[in-house]
Amino acid sequence: MPTAHPSGWAHADGALRGPHWLREPADPNELVAQLWSSTAHKNDDGALVVGGVDLRDLVAEHGSPAYVLDEDDFRGRARAFRDAFSAFDVYYAGKAFLCTTIASWIAEEGLCLDVCSNSELTVALRGGVDPARIGYHGNNKTTAELRRAVEAGVGRIVVDSFHEIERLVEIAGAARVMLRVTAGVEAHTHEYIATAHEDQKFGFSITSGDAFEAVRRVLAAPGLELLGLHSHIGSQIFDSSGFEVAARRVLALHARVSDELSVDLPEMDLGGGFGIAYTTQDDPSDPAQLATEMSKIVEHECKALGIDEPRLSIEPGRAIVGPSMCTVYEVGTVKEVVLDGPKETKPRRTYVSVDGGMSDNIRTALYDADYSCTLASRRSDAPAVLARVVGKHCEAGDIVVKDEFLPGDVAPGDLVAVPGTGAYCRSMASNYNHALRPPVIAVRDGVTRVVVRRETEDDLLATDVAGTDDARHTDGASS
Ligand SMILES: Cc1ncc(COP(=O)(O)O)c(C=O)c1O
Repeated sequence: MPTAHPSGWAHADGALRGPHWLREPADPNELVAQLWSSTAHKNDDGALVVGGVDLRDLVAEHGSPAYVLDEDDFRGRARAFRDAFSAFDVYYAGKAFLCTTIASWIAEEGLCLDVCSNSELTVALRGGVDPARIGYHGNNKTTAELRRAVEAGVGRIVVDSFHEIERLVEIAGAARVMLRVTAGVEAHTHEYIATAHEDQKFGFSITSGDAFEAVRRVLAAPGLELLGLHSHIGSQIFDSSGFEVAARRVLALHARVSDELSVDLPEMDLGGGFGIAYTTQDDPSDPAQLATEMSKIVEHECKALGIDEPRLSIEPGRAIVGPSMCTVYEVGTVKEVVLDGPKETKPRRTYVSVDGGMSDNIRTALYDADYSCTLASRRSDAPAVLARVVGKHCEAGDIVVKDEFLPGDVAPGDLVAVPGTGAYCRSMASNYNHALRPPVIAVRDGVTRVVVRRETEDDLLATDVAGTDDARHTDGASS
């Protein structure tokens, strides 16, 4: 019988077996296909190939760590959402990952785009996205930001507070707006990525009456055109029941607006948050299934309420870009650590330190997220060990992959690749320890293309102006 240990299941041989869902793979040289982008596979040497590019060659040319973006996979997922949700408007949520190239692919594939800052708006416009197909989000948009969005002609501004309504009126331009409402749904996900319960910062509460009051104020405001209501319940959600409850509550408000204010709002947005597979414990729905389920829910509710169906939109970010990228790292050190625990089992864990970490993927530390990984540079017939892949930063919580089986001979110089790093990794990357943020390298048909270059020390020092001529022109620095 295995002995229970707080960090996993320890066997009599002293090896940890990891969390309950983690299975030791029959062959660690094989990829678990559903975790990887569509073109990823291992070649005869056991090296990982993505977009026809051997990642050993990619690292030899561009260094590590690097985010590897599978262009065919990204475009395929964008098209799959566009086609499955052909009766909806599909807004790619740029916060998941945005650069000029991604913005141009989104425009080419016929999707709309969501931004939530002026800088994201700049990137979207530089990528050739039609401003009329851009949505502008955020819970604290300044007057300057709102003015820029209005002047750029963005298609819709998603208003999140009474102050924003006042600011838009002050600007006195014509703006098409949606109101972000809080449906009071507890999404079954991490607290910090659940966004529709009452006690958090986003949206107007339906329950408190703020959402209805916001509708009245926007309808009364000169220059503002109210398109409809918007609800986003959270992220990494697999269960459509949360969407169902939210849709029902938001449609009830939509119907109340029609009844009491005699205004038929033409649109409604049900947000993003569709889950992806980071590990074998995740079982996401495909876009066609999601589209069918969501359409049915809305059709059924509208019939029950006796109202016309509004034009629907959704905002997937992670489900498009997440699986399209992996991160490749080089192993620097390997340590076997004996954990506390029953003496007779002496459970051990193998710590594999790589040349990146929480600066390029904060999700494990921030959300306790699970990831998977594979040895990407060679085959190995060594028995698997339970490994923890950690970064090189000065934090014990600097963990990239909490639990994964890797060949027991993993060693410095090996490459390790982590799938599913397209969303909220590069976009949330930091310069902690003055780390230089890795490049994003698009791969397709055997060709690599740097779409975001690696940062340099000069990039970091460019903003560090003390002692230079620039310091005299910086607020407060000249006194
Ligand atoms: C309003 C809104 N829409 C869409 C998204 C995208 O979510 P996901 O990337 O999980 O699909 C988010 C994520 O935070 C969001 O806040």
